[in-house]
Amino acid sequence: MKQVAAYITKNQKRFIQDLNACIRIPSVSSQSKRKKEVKRCAEFLKKEFLKIGFHTAEIQPTKGHPVLFAEWKHPDPSKPTVLIYGHYDVQPEDPIDEWKTPPFEPTVRGNELFGRGVIDDKGQVYIHLKALEAHLKVNKELPLNVKFMVEGEEEIGSPNLEPYLKKYRKQFDADWMIISDTPMLKKGIPSICYGLRGLSYMEIEVKGPFQDVHSGQWGGILDNPANALIQIISKLKNDKGKVLIPGFYKDVKPLSAKEKKLLSSLPIKVSDYKKMVQVSKFLEENPAEFVRKMWAYPTLDVNGIVGGYTGEGAKTIIPESAKAKVSMRLVPNQDHNKIAKLFKDYVKKIAPKTVKVSVKDLHGGEPFYIHFDHPVFESAKKALKKGFGRNPVFIREGGSIPFVNSMEQMLNKPAILLGFGLPDENAHAPNEKLNLENYHKGMLSCAYFYEELSKLNVRKK
Ligand code: BES
Ligand code: ZN
Repeated sequence: MKQVAAYITKNQKRFIQDLNACIRIPSVSSQSKRKKEVKRCAEFLKKEFLKIGFHTAEIQPTKGHPVLFAEWKHPDPSKPTVLIYGHYDVQPEDPIDEWKTPPFEPTVRGNELFGRGVIDDKGQVYIHLKALEAHLKVNKELPLNVKFMVEGEEEIGSPNLEPYLKKYRKQFDADWMIISDTPMLKKGIPSICYGLRGLSYMEIEVKGPFQDVHSGQWGGILDNPANALIQIISKLKNDKGKVLIPGFYKDVKPLSAKEKKLLSSLPIKVSDYKKMVQVSKFLEENPAEFVRKMWAYPTLDVNGIVGGYTGEGAKTIIPESAKAKVSMRLVPNQDHNKIAKLFKDYVKKIAPKTVKVSVKDLHGGEPFYIHFDHPVFESAKKALKKGFGRNPVFIREGGSIPFVNSMEQMLNKPAILLGFGLPDENAHAPNEKLNLENYHKGMLSCAYFYEELSKLNVRKK
């Protein structure tokens, strides 16, 4: 392992350049004009896996963007198998003017690499890819069987994942999964994430007159879709942030006293989070409740709202329609299909009769939660300690990765979320960045982790 670690350290510069080549491909999964680029990224990665010595790397089609599946088979079949997951699709770069350097021209400033996808999730895919390369180059083999799935639709809610997983069920047999697509608690504190929120993503459209009409002529008698939409939205939550949809909290599993204690013991300072987003007050300032609201309670948020005239100067109209996108982050025991139905029924019920309201369920994913008492977590702890020089903490996260729950249900094997991002690395936002020290220490940790995993006893079928 000493030589593997030395190889990782020695090749850091090249590992950054290799990642840069991947960042240059604008694989934005949500934009149809980028469809070819998304495919090109999958093809690029296929070559990367073959180049480091993987036995197979295959582009597997779905109804949407393809999945890249790569495999390295150990000559000794009794060795355990790990399945690593990441995604190669990225979020759109808008608002482009806010970027200090172009999003698809990766740039190092200080000890950070800037570019779209550097942390979410190409950089984290490369952390594994390069740790695997180090093992393969130094030892001519990996310590265990490795399967690596890189998805191309994670950022759009993995709409084709379930049928894909069913179709290729056999190829996924593994003893554990590793997913690196989450942040660490903070710089210098390696973290294992044991819970993710689920998601229900909805769209409300309100329609009024057949087209925009004069607001002087029609104002007072004609209901205004923009006003009606605001009325609806204002009834979704109260001013304390409590969601008012009947039944919304019914299935929420309460936190145990043990978990509350664990969450309260984390080295979290509310003021640090204020600095990150530059606000002077949060909805919740009590430190214990702050952590729970950030990760462990469900939410409802308007993600975007449009309607009427917002251009230069004034244009006195009543708009013909208005639209809002609303996301609800869900926690254990909430079911996204059930929540979507509750949302629809409630919005229909509170909608003014003077407008036409339609509600669409855009996509959803289940929450993830794992009891981290399985022995594999001891190995993960050891590996992170070697990589970062200190023991990791166990955290939850507020974001969602639909794959994790789906796969855990299917395989019935533990998922270990080893994230190497930082909370202020601007994922989904302008100036997305990756801390290069974490890039390096992440690779070391992964290289150690594969080694630790190969020592674990697993019963082969
Ligand atoms: N890397 C994130 C997931 C994430 C972000 C986990 C922050 C923990 C903290 C992932 O790429 C992502 O953005 N997922 C989407 C999924 C959604 C479209 C179903 C998300 O959370 O919005
Ligand atoms: Zn993301």
